[in-house]
Amino acid sequence: MGMTEIAFQKCINLDCGAEFDCGQAMFKCPQCGELLDIRYNWDKIKVPGKLSEFAKRWAGRDNRLDLSGVWRFRELISFCEDKYKVSIGEGQTILQQNDAVAEYVDMQPGSLHLQYEGLNPSGSFKDNGMTAAFSHAKMVGATSSACASTGNTSASVALYAHSCGVKCTVFIGSGRIAFGKLSQAMDYGAQTIQILGDFDDCMRQVQDVCTKLGLYLLNSLNPFRLEGQKTIMYRIIEGLGWDVPDWIIVPGGNLGNSSAFGKAFSELKQLGLIKRIPRMAIINATGADTLTDLVNNKKLLWNDGKIDQKIIDDYYADLTARNFSPHTCASAIEISRPVNLKKCLRAIDICNGIVRAVPDEEIVDAKAIIGKHGLGCEPASAATIAGLKQLRAENIIGADERVACVLTGHPLKDPNVTVNYHKEKQGRFSNMPIEAPNDLDAIIKLIKS
Ligand code: F0G
Repeated sequence: MGMTEIAFQKCINLDCGAEFDCGQAMFKCPQCGELLDIRYNWDKIKVPGKLSEFAKRWAGRDNRLDLSGVWRFRELISFCEDKYKVSIGEGQTILQQNDAVAEYVDMQPGSLHLQYEGLNPSGSFKDNGMTAAFSHAKMVGATSSACASTGNTSASVALYAHSCGVKCTVFIGSGRIAFGKLSQAMDYGAQTIQILGDFDDCMRQVQDVCTKLGLYLLNSLNPFRLEGQKTIMYRIIEGLGWDVPDWIIVPGGNLGNSSAFGKAFSELKQLGLIKRIPRMAIINATGADTLTDLVNNKKLLWNDGKIDQKIIDDYYADLTARNFSPHTCASAIEISRPVNLKKCLRAIDICNGIVRAVPDEEIVDAKAIIGKHGLGCEPASAATIAGLKQLRAENIIGADERVACVLTGHPLKDPNVTVNYHKEKQGRFSNMPIEAPNDLDAIIKLIKS
């Protein structure tokens, strides 16, 4: 079926390889249960000959699809007609060279770049994926949707759902979500269900709920969502004058981003739009380090698609036996059973990737540095800088290599972590407020100018 269509869905399991058209909404292969990819018949698409041609669309900002930092690249995510495309101006993000943060991680000036995905409409990178997934939802006529979330997915789903008239229910682990994100889900009108459990419990429940009630699932199991997230990489390349960096660094939670980034680079290379693929470092928090443990200690590999399932099964059986629940102050990535694990292993293979885990203390210190010298970010995003610092100390990344860190979420997403860090002098860079009497002279004495 795939050969006649521009885009089609294909099972990532090489022994199965089943193909389906894009007119169906599925979050796993109905034949074998594995993850699905969106594939394109590139010879049927007029892809621009050079990546720089996409930049010309900035000039046409009165066209809603050119205004979107996702749909500007529409030939590279060509699965639905324009009339279905849902957009609220997502993806207008920037890549900032930041020498002060570079100094913190012992890199040379000019080498470190921060990709601010917090500038999206709901304040996180998720909007790149939701614009694509909701476009597909409209294409297949979905009227009701759902997701499990550590917070940002729910905020983004709630915003996109009401902007295109689709109902949504979001599942969150009780007490496991930062306040900024919870406030968004409620304010944007999502039916919000707090489950007495963690994200992994919510993820299991939402799949069954969607199957039973026929709801459209918006987690990154949804292969259309990942198509939108590929554009984060296009914009990084754009920010570097259409050149690829040496390294991409990304936080690892449910592993949708890393999976999408690997796919983006492999397609760009296949199309001749880039000459080389950058390396990728995926950073977990030590309290939620399934990927790190599986890759670095259990030696789990993509292995040309022949993944050793027993390693994964044994690992998850042990988590269950120990009643393990992940814990990190970076609540966005507090996940121990990442649903995109296999696609992520493929991305590691494509990008010669590596994986590390960083402790919470390093995450909050890095966050304070990004706040003080950049536009700020939420804790999970700061794992990238903490990870880079570690990789510099190990000398795996050179001081003069060109690195782009994806700062996935806005600083206001999690005000509690920020206020506690500064107010209670928890870290090396705490910036405590100073109490002052209501008296001019006393106030003036306190001011360091
Ligand atoms: N950074 C932030 C700010 C996130 O919200 C997430 C994931 C990640 C990183 C990890 O990305 O899953 O692609 O590896 N948040 C999801 C949510 C799980 O429900 O909002 P990933």
